Amino acid sequence: MSNLLFLSLLFIQHFLFVKSNAPPPPPLAPALYTFGDCQVDIGINPDLNISSSKVNYYPYGIDFVIGATGRFTNGATVVDLIGDILGLPVSIHYSPEKKSANTLSKGYNYASGPSGILPETGTASRPSWSMNEQIAIFNMTVQNNLPKHFKCKAELDDYLSKSLFVVDIGTSDYEYNYLQPNYYNTSKRYNPEQFGNLLANQFGKQLKELYNLGARKFLVFEIAPIGCYPQAVKRYKPTTKCAEDINNLVLIFNRKLEHKVRTLRSRCKDAHITIAKTYSFILDMLKRPSTYGFEETTQPCCLVRNDTIGICAPNKNPCSNRNKALFWDDNHLTEAAYRLMADKCFSGSDICTPNINKTLSSAEPCMKPSLVHMFFLVLLYGVSCFHKTFGFCW
Ligand SMILES: *[C@@H]1O[C@H](CO)[C@@H](O)[C@H](O)[C@H]1NC(C)=O
Ligand SMILES: *[C@@H]1O[C@H](CO)[C@@H](O)[C@H](O)[C@H]1NC(C)=O
Ligand SMILES: *[C@@H]1O[C@H](CO)[C@@H](O)[C@H](O)[C@H]1NC(C)=O
Ligand SMILES: *[C@@H]1O[C@H](CO)[C@@H](O)[C@H](O)[C@H]1NC(C)=O
Ligand SMILES: *[C@@H]1O[C@H](CO)[C@@H](O)[C@H](O)[C@H]1NC(C)=O
Repeated sequence: MSNLLFLSLLFIQHFLFVKSNAPPPPPLAPALYTFGDCQVDIGINPDLNISSSKVNYYPYGIDFVIGATGRFTNGATVVDLIGDILGLPVSIHYSPEKKSANTLSKGYNYASGPSGILPETGTASRPSWSMNEQIAIFNMTVQNNLPKHFKCKAELDDYLSKSLFVVDIGTSDYEYNYLQPNYYNTSKRYNPEQFGNLLANQFGKQLKELYNLGARKFLVFEIAPIGCYPQAVKRYKPTTKCAEDINNLVLIFNRKLEHKVRTLRSRCKDAHITIAKTYSFILDMLKRPSTYGFEETTQPCCLVRNDTIGICAPNKNPCSNRNKALFWDDNHLTEAAYRLMADKCFSGSDICTPNINKTLSSAEPCMKPSLVHMFFLVLLYGVSCFHKTFGFCW
């Protein structure tokens, strides 16, 4: 059964995205590694019990080729769509059981909702893998799974340094921690400014750990304007369109994130970190929906369960105009919104500066190899395996 699922995942791309018959160009990155919470969770990892959120039921995945996988949307997530633009297959969970796999991974997804930057986030509702645990599992991947596909450490380092590392985390540190004073005491221990600092500092350390494990190209998501999401509007009943207090709270984190990333860029010279500025982008989609092709930007597309979690009730038909709706359930966007985000983050400067296309091509050699270059490349090849990659980050 799980083999069948694995195989079908490998072939998803051929059904999901219409492609011409021409041979596909080589991927723009050798692999895509994803960390985060339910925004980018791809479902339950049977070996690691990686998520117990379990939205693996209709109508989730109604527009996804293999249906409900545990993705918190109607179709593909923003990371699935970025991977597709890069020419990579849909990513799967890392699995210790498959460490004998004979093919080199095109990346794994470690995301697990409702996890957070802080280890305790989300633990009162559902068990999940925190960012620290996700990094530890990635560490296992680097130690146990990847090395046998490379002749030497320098080759593995090269593969990792060209891969894209997407991190979308922090939302749950508010939704399933700071804003739940009945279960967590963080709002008593820290004021909003201090909590933003705590998260940003911890997150900076986590990015550095990924760097130390070999990551060089990062795409880091801001926290979205969750005060405008149906979940917050239902809970806080603001007189304006959005719960501004909630938006202002996450804005504190977003500002500190930007500052932290600027520091990391200057300290880790060979790290390329792009922030996906989804906060202002989603606000703009709410302000000018027709510009983006949306007709429905307040109601969720599916019928949401009558509890506070904000996920779809099982087996109820969702709205039919899913391409024109912004919200899928009370907390997550539709594939249509994710597609706009992925496309605009890849090229242009609406969300991502520098965009992913630029980030990924930044390390490409600027010279086309001539015969002379080839000669030296061959000469150097033997030496290169003894050459350790010197990353510097403090
Ligand atoms: C996953 O869960 C099952 C049943 O709940 C348990 O038997 C198994 O040990 C768990 N696996 C891991 C890696 O935690
Ligand atoms: C807050 O909760 C943590 C456990 O989550 C506990 O260790 C700590 O003592 C608590 N602090 C206060 C001030 O209640
Ligand atoms: C990765 O694992 C190794 C060995 O198991 C350990 O020494 C190292 O501290 C780990 N690194 C991180 C960033 O977790
Ligand atoms: C939730 O309650 C409302 C009002 O009682 C009802 O109309 C709706 O169908 C219920 N939703 C679900 C998913 O049961
Ligand atoms: C991506 O970048 C390359 C050059 O680095 C450029 O030729 C290409 O047009 C870009 N693609 C998009 C969609 O912007």
